[in-house]
Amino acid sequence: MSNDISRAPGDVKKVNIAAFGGSLRRNSFNGYLLNVASRNVPEYVAFRIAPIKDLPMYNTDEEEKPVEAVVNFKNVLRHADGILIVTPEYNYSIPGFIKNAIDIASRPYSDNVLKGKHVAVMSASMSAFGGMRAQYHLRQVFVYLDMKPINKPEVFINFAQDKFDSSGELKDEKSLRLVQELMMNLATECMRDRLV
Ligand SMILES: Cc1cc2nc3c(=O)[nH]c(=O)nc-3n(C[C@H](O)[C@H](O)[C@H](O)COP(=O)(O)O)c2cc1C
Repeated sequence: MSNDISRAPGDVKKVNIAAFGGSLRRNSFNGYLLNVASRNVPEYVAFRIAPIKDLPMYNTDEEEKPVEAVVNFKNVLRHADGILIVTPEYNYSIPGFIKNAIDIASRPYSDNVLKGKHVAVMSASMSAFGGMRAQYHLRQVFVYLDMKPINKPEVFINFAQDKFDSSGELKDEKSLRLVQELMMNLATECMRDRLV
């Protein structure tokens, strides 16, 4: 039997939250933020990261025979009750690798593993707006995917270079509280669905 966690089904006793994002570079502030979020979830949450680093560019011709990176990525999302996306902002919008990951997860049409799921977004940027514009573009994408965005709190970590320490800890208390609150709100919505 494979030990690959991405092949394991979700934890039936817990709320399953899957996350992806960060950027492809080492020491990504968004990668740090993803890790901070993973450590700040309620104890009834099973948190898993859906890896995007090895995803190919989306190609409809490859839908029938997806490569292993695509299969693993989609499986982690498939078993999730809720999704967290942690995104940088590139040129006032969603970076290509994040949009590509979403496109892959959403196809083929009959196997859209995002449709209808609760979703929360966070961003970190080195400028004053903290990735706000990328987040609002993402929210437009959620409309087509029929996802259920957690609206508040909005987590924009601006001037990220001043808010993380060299080990990737979020040293800004106010930002950390917002991360905790957003993760709690995402988990609560997922739990509510379990109870109905
Ligand atoms: C191609 C590119 C475009 C960028 N565009 C924006 C932008 O529109 N808004 C912004 O706040 N920061 C922008 N930045 C700066 C990023 O906020 C900064 O590089 C940040 O550290 C990226 O996130 P990461 O640390 O997770 O890689 C851009 C950076 C790159 C490489």
